[in-house]
This record gives sequence, structure tokens and C-alpha cells, in this order.
Amino acid sequence: MSAYEITHHKYDVVVVGAGGAGLRATLGMAEQGLKTACVTKVFPTRSHTVAAQGGIAASLGNMGPDSWHWHMYDTVKGSDWLGDTDAMEYLAREAPKAVYELEHYGVPFSRTEEGKIYQRPFGGHTTEFGEGPPVQRTAAAADRTGHAILHTLYGQSIKEDAQFFIEYFATDLIMSEDGVCQGILAWKLDDGTLHAFNAKMVVLATGGYGRAYFSATSAHTCTGDGNAMVARQGLPLQDMEFVQFHPTGIYGSGCLITEGARGEGGYLTNSEGERFMERYAPTYKDLASRDVVSRCMTIEIREGRGVGPNKDHISLHLNHLPPETLAERLPGITESAEIFAGVDLTKEPVPVLPTVHYNMGGIPTNYWGEVLNPTADNPDAIAPGLMAVGEAGCASVHGANRLGSNSLIDLVVFGRAAAIKAGQVVDPAAPNPELNQASLDAAIATFDKFRYADGSVTTADLRDEMQRTMQADAAVFRTDKTLAEGVEKMKAVAAKLDDVKVTDRSLVWNTDLMETLELSNLMPNAMATIVSAEARKESRGAHAHEDYPDRDDENWRKHTLAVVDGPNVELEYRPVHLDPLTVEDEGGIDLKKIAPKARVY
Ligand code: FUM
Repeated sequence: MSAYEITHHKYDVVVVGAGGAGLRATLGMAEQGLKTACVTKVFPTRSHTVAAQGGIAASLGNMGPDSWHWHMYDTVKGSDWLGDTDAMEYLAREAPKAVYELEHYGVPFSRTEEGKIYQRPFGGHTTEFGEGPPVQRTAAAADRTGHAILHTLYGQSIKEDAQFFIEYFATDLIMSEDGVCQGILAWKLDDGTLHAFNAKMVVLATGGYGRAYFSATSAHTCTGDGNAMVARQGLPLQDMEFVQFHPTGIYGSGCLITEGARGEGGYLTNSEGERFMERYAPTYKDLASRDVVSRCMTIEIREGRGVGPNKDHISLHLNHLPPETLAERLPGITESAEIFAGVDLTKEPVPVLPTVHYNMGGIPTNYWGEVLNPTADNPDAIAPGLMAVGEAGCASVHGANRLGSNSLIDLVVFGRAAAIKAGQVVDPAAPNPELNQASLDAAIATFDKFRYADGSVTTADLRDEMQRTMQADAAVFRTDKTLAEGVEKMKAVAAKLDDVKVTDRSLVWNTDLMETLELSNLMPNAMATIVSAEARKESRGAHAHEDYPDRDDENWRKHTLAVVDGPNVELEYRPVHLDPLTVEDEGGIDLKKIAPKARVY
């Protein structure tokens, strides 16, 4: 008999998380008449998608010629040939449809003179299969695109009668003896009660784990909760070594300055006033893919050409742009630069630094969002009853590096795909499965263990140790030495979770306990990241290994799978999907166009 009274709920579908992917999935499920609950630890419109600035990629062709084939090519090249070809085709093909749906739901996109959706250039988005000029493919609502999308999707979900459980912290999955996901346990933060949600399908839309690092553009809530819930069930996490650094986090605070700033004509300089990107990426310059730009900035700083008294950052110039452009297209970052850097963008450059921004890795899924539990016989075997979408999921559409503005489109395309799939596999007339009491008890026991944790290290101290280790040893550039040292340090850090101390034993708005649960979620994410990175002996996308500077397709064009158990991580690999969904004769991509080659911009 548990010391906790549990409130039970039954739904067809439970979506965990209310960012762009969670809300798009929730809306799609509810529209089909599935009884849908969305469980979220923050108010939906405060989810991290609200911080997405620059826009959403789709080949609408509103500003000039474009095609989904070019978008797919750019995504394949951006992924450094690690993305799954079927998923990348699905993304590029479905993108225009998904954006027009958003428009019809009511997203207030910026407009061209003719009233079409405005689109701006973004890094790595090109024409003519990388042979033509940059394309304006990123649809935007000024520089508050995520904000606009979240508000619209939340309103539409309410209209469709989706039920929201707001400020409920999902702590663990509930699984049947034979590995079917049956629901979740959640802690209601404002009254301290525990809730078991029984569902025929659970969709994890819990976002990334940027807060495993010391400096990140991610909100403090980005603690990889869904990834950790999956890891605790012995299921693998995929491609966790690929962590994206955004070139332009504000120096000091890490706050995002959108790539749209460079899309609108902004440029970077070093301490000599040189527009150094012209040297590294002669064709696309400041609009090269963001992993490339981040590395070039880091090289400039390492070679002594950083800006400022400590020569430790880079300047981003927007002061040459007409003030009307800043006011109309970039009002949000104009405000952020003022608040977080004390800079008037119309007059002076803003100091920036590559900052952790996005996790390409996550819970492995197919392009319908179904979670994979690969076996020796079947690398695409499905974990029944479980889906993952958005940054938590790894479809894998971004491979080793995501292009800017391919995140918002990923959220809505795959949130929508999950809803389509759930409509096919969830029977609203069927009874819900009986919850496995042993699994529910295990989830309660984990919660209770942390509530009464009485060790010798505080959550804040342990988190700080983890974040500094990851920042130093799993950074923009990596070496055998830093990674090996990092793995050893992180093993010691992760082991200390058993010695953590929680001082507040109450249940109502216990932020001490909540931060500890979040730390316990960050830890397996961090472990999987650094161990997977240490094992990958090549450079690909965001994984820049100085001892192995080249991409090695023969040995390493494969996905890493990491099974985490405390400080121990077991690695396996699964093949990359090389086949597209359609062939050239059916209007699909010419496979020769997307064959691996050197990735230059
Ligand atoms: O720079 C940005 O606006 C970020 C966009 C993205 O990560 O897709």
C-alpha cells in the first residue's frame, strides 16, 4: 500500500509537453475525436517553443523559386549524411502543407507586399541542390514565430476539447510486463497530489536537454524529462553526441539572437574588424550551416582574434540595417540586445558566442513518431504504446546537425504525423489496458526516494558540476583526451546522484524536489552524450573531433544507440535509412543528388 493517494485518469492519448510538437500532436489527436490529455509542467504558452525566433522552413516559394527537393537536399547535407532519408523526405514534402495549416489555424505570419507569407534566408538553405544562391525559405512572424505558433495551437486545442493538465510534472512511464507503454505518473505541483494517467498511447513531447550544459539558449525547463523516462525503462537514446551550438548566443547570458539577424543582412566580425566567414565559407559566408559558423567563430577566438578585453567573443553587426527593418523584422532581438547586452542594435554590434542550442539526438522514432526499440533482428522494431516528437524525438531528420528553422517545421510536421498515426492505431472504442501496478509502484518509489533524499551534496552543486563538465569536455571541438577525461568525470558526477540532498520534504510547490527530479533527468542525457561522443572516431556535423577531422562514412555512417543505467552506458549502433519514400520516376528525389560528398558552403 503506497503512502500516496493516487488520482486515476483514463484517456485514449496522453501527450506529455505542450511546446510546438506537443500542441500540434494534441490538436491533431483531438480533431479526430480521440480523448486526449496534454500534461505539461509549464503553462502551454510558456513552453520553450515560445523562444523560437527566426522562423519555420518550408518551400513555399513566396520570395523566389524553391522546391521541396532543394529543401530535402539542404537537410540531407545539413545532417552531414546522418539523417534518415525517408524522414527527411517526409519533412521537406509535408512542410508547405503544415505551414499553410498553421496559417489557416490563425498564425499571424509576417506578410509580403502582396499579402503572402513572408520568408527570410537562413543558414544552409539554398537553391539548385546547393549550386544556386541562398533561398528565402524561412516563414516568419517577425522574430517571434514560436510565440505566434504556440498561442495559435493552444487556442485551437482548447476549441477541440483537448484536456490540459497544467503544471503537472510527469515523472515516469508506466509499462506493462511485456514492454507496452500504458501511461504515466505525474505530480501536480500546486497541490502536491500524484496522478496516474492510463492511456492507449503516450506521446513524449518534452523537448531537449540544453540545461545539461552551463551556457544554453534553452529555458531552465529544458531538462530532457522524456528522454530520461525512456532511459529508465532500459530503452535506448539515439545520436546523443550531436549537440548543436548556435553561433549567436548573447555573450554572458546565452540568450538567443536569431539566425534571422544574419538572414536579414547581419554579419560577424573578429577583433580586426574582418568579416572572417568570407574566408571559411566563400559562397554562403555568414549563412553557412550553423555548426560551420560556430566552429569558425571558435577558431577565431582560439587564434587570438576574439573581441573584447579578454578576446573571448565575436561581434554581430546589425547597425548598418535600416532601423525600420530592425523594428519590423527583428523587434524581439532588438529588445533582447538592449536588456541582456546593454546594446542599441541600431548603433553598435552585439557581442555573441556559440551557445548550446539544440539536441539532434533523442528518443529514436520512425517518421510517424513511433518509438523504436531496436533488436538484433529488427533495427526498426517499435516500442508499443509510445511515441516521441519534437526535440525529444530523433526521427532522425536532423542527423548530425540541424539547419536553422528546420526545428519549428519538425515540430509541426511530426506532431501532425503522430496524430495521423494514432488515428490509425488507437481504437477509441477499445477499453484501456489495466495499469501494471508493479510499474506504477516503481514510479512512486523513485519519486519518494528523491523526496526523502538525505545525502551530502546539494542539487545546485551537483548540477553545477555536471554543467561545467559538459561545457568543458563535450564542447564545440572535442579530442580523445577531453572526451576520455569527460567520461570519467561525468561517471563520478552521475554516481553522486545517490548522495543528493533534498531539504524540503513537502509536496506543494516544492521547487527543491522538482529541481532534483529535473537533475535526475539531465544526468542520463549528459551521460549518453559524452559516452556516445567519446566512442565516435570521426568528425560529422556538430561532432567536431580534432583527432579525427574527417567524416568517415565507411565506418561511422550509423546511428548510435545508448542504453543508460546510472553512470554506466552501453552502446550499440543501427543503420541509417538510405531509401527515400518515393523514387525519381514518382516525382521523388534523384538519389545521385543526395549521395554523400564533402560538405562545403
Ligand atoms: O536562430 C533562430 O532563430 C533559431 C532557429 C532555430 O533554431 O531553428
